[in-house]
Amino acid sequence: MQWRRRHCCTHAAKLLYLISLLGVLVFLVQQEWLPRFTGMPWWRGHPVIYGGGGLHTTKAKLNVSSQHLLWRFVIVPQPTFKSDVNISVHHKEGITSPQGNPGFENTLATNTSQSEEGDLSTSVTHGPFPYIINEPDKCTDTQRAPFVVVLIATEARQVEARNAIRQTWGNESVAPGLGFIRLFLLGKNEGELGLLQQRMLEAESRRHHDIIQQDFLDSYKNLTIKTLMGMNWVAMHCPQVSYVMKTDSDMFVNTEYLIYKLLRPELKPKKNYFTGNNMRGFAPNRNKNSKWYMPPELYPSEKYPTFCSGTGYVFSGDLARKIYIVSLSIQHLHLEDVYVGICLAKLRIEPIPPPNEFLFNHWRVSYSSCKYNHLITSHGFHPNELLKYWHHLQSNKHNACINTFKDRGGRIHSNRVNGQKQT
Ligand SMILES: *[C@@H]1O[C@H](CO)[C@@H](O)[C@H](O)[C@H]1NC(C)=O
Ligand SMILES: *[C@@H]1O[C@H](CO)[C@@H](O)[C@H](O)[C@H]1NC(C)=O
Ligand SMILES: *[C@@H]1O[C@H](CO)[C@@H](O)[C@H](O)[C@H]1NC(C)=O
Ligand SMILES: *[C@@H]1O[C@H](CO)[C@@H](O)[C@H](O)[C@H]1NC(C)=O
Ligand SMILES: *[C@@H]1O[C@H](CO)[C@@H](O)[C@H](O)[C@H]1NC(C)=O
Repeated sequence: MQWRRRHCCTHAAKLLYLISLLGVLVFLVQQEWLPRFTGMPWWRGHPVIYGGGGLHTTKAKLNVSSQHLLWRFVIVPQPTFKSDVNISVHHKEGITSPQGNPGFENTLATNTSQSEEGDLSTSVTHGPFPYIINEPDKCTDTQRAPFVVVLIATEARQVEARNAIRQTWGNESVAPGLGFIRLFLLGKNEGELGLLQQRMLEAESRRHHDIIQQDFLDSYKNLTIKTLMGMNWVAMHCPQVSYVMKTDSDMFVNTEYLIYKLLRPELKPKKNYFTGNNMRGFAPNRNKNSKWYMPPELYPSEKYPTFCSGTGYVFSGDLARKIYIVSLSIQHLHLEDVYVGICLAKLRIEPIPPPNEFLFNHWRVSYSSCKYNHLITSHGFHPNELLKYWHHLQSNKHNACINTFKDRGGRIHSNRVNGQKQT
């Protein structure tokens, strides 16, 4: 009898515990700030693709393997900004309406002049840094306007990564007949090594014709200049392209999914469209010892506008020119993706959340053909891994999820058997 009562009490306690956990979870979902920590609200997940994978991906995200990933954890969402009723209202609207928020409030400290639209008519030149290597005819060589230009930030020494990308997701034959342009973005290195690298880069460029380079020092802090070079190239040499993607050389990009499932060539190309892994409500890092420190003099506001992780974002071709032109009147910040977010805010364009939260991952998603067949970006790949996973994905494309179903079925089944044994 006593055993029974204790047993029943532990059950009740467990139930209470579960209910309180659920309460906390619901609270967090309401607050909408948990997704910023985990990046992946797995409980809302696609049951097939991500079922049960939540812990896994969170752990994978904690595997801080690159600079890009690192500062995501340093910039914390400010719990206080929620108290600003106006911002949180806009915030909610932004989440629920995939059309973005036309009433987006510009919370920037940067000067917002009313003459932006007028400025957009100015002609675009190469900007402060001349091109060293350029491909001015890459876009006009084909008869019809290309569908997508992929801009890949890279450094001279990453030859292997560029070759892997050329053979995998950056292979122009991923979208036969549509017009797919791959461009690697580079600055210049100094010293003797720099000179040697320059020779090799020029040879690589002659062979593949997929490199553009301007005369600025290639450093992490100059990533903003590098991205703006890409925008500049599209604005100058390929203004009629439907879409542009900016990504990095350590990324896995499912270009096929991007083109055929997200952008969809059969539809009329969108305008003023910007999407990716939306970073909403992030605050500047004010810790002077941090690598990601943002001086208040450079950026006084306590909140960044919504921006998309620089590991992969996608926008309509018209925006390349608009972003480039507006950038001419905004002081450069070294955080490239934040900076592009600021440009967008000044243009009063709100990044649109992607159709589902698993498409753009700025961490590494553990590989399965099923998952990788349904995402666009995953971060942190060695060139050899890229080749390996890409080939696996290609050969399993048409039955990518079959094994997953089998595995899941098997696991559930064996769990049940174990459970029965215990009782
Ligand atoms: C971190 O990622 C690297 C490759 O990106 C992998 O080799 C390593 O095992 C990972 N470490 C952990 C703790 O997951
Ligand atoms: C909120 O917005 C209203 C009107 O849009 C404005 O009058 C009010 O001052 C705003 N409040 C804050 C705290 O910004
Ligand atoms: C805005 O621009 C004006 C002149 O263009 C300048 O005097 C003023 O300091 C700027 N304000 C800020 C906050 O940058
Ligand atoms: C790109 O793909 C095509 C068709 O699959 C293949 O023939 C070609 O060798 C690939 N290019 C590279 C650089 O691997
Ligand atoms: C960025 O590039 C410019 C032009 O080469 C250079 O003067 C500057 O020092 C670079 N900045 C950083 C932080 O590397």
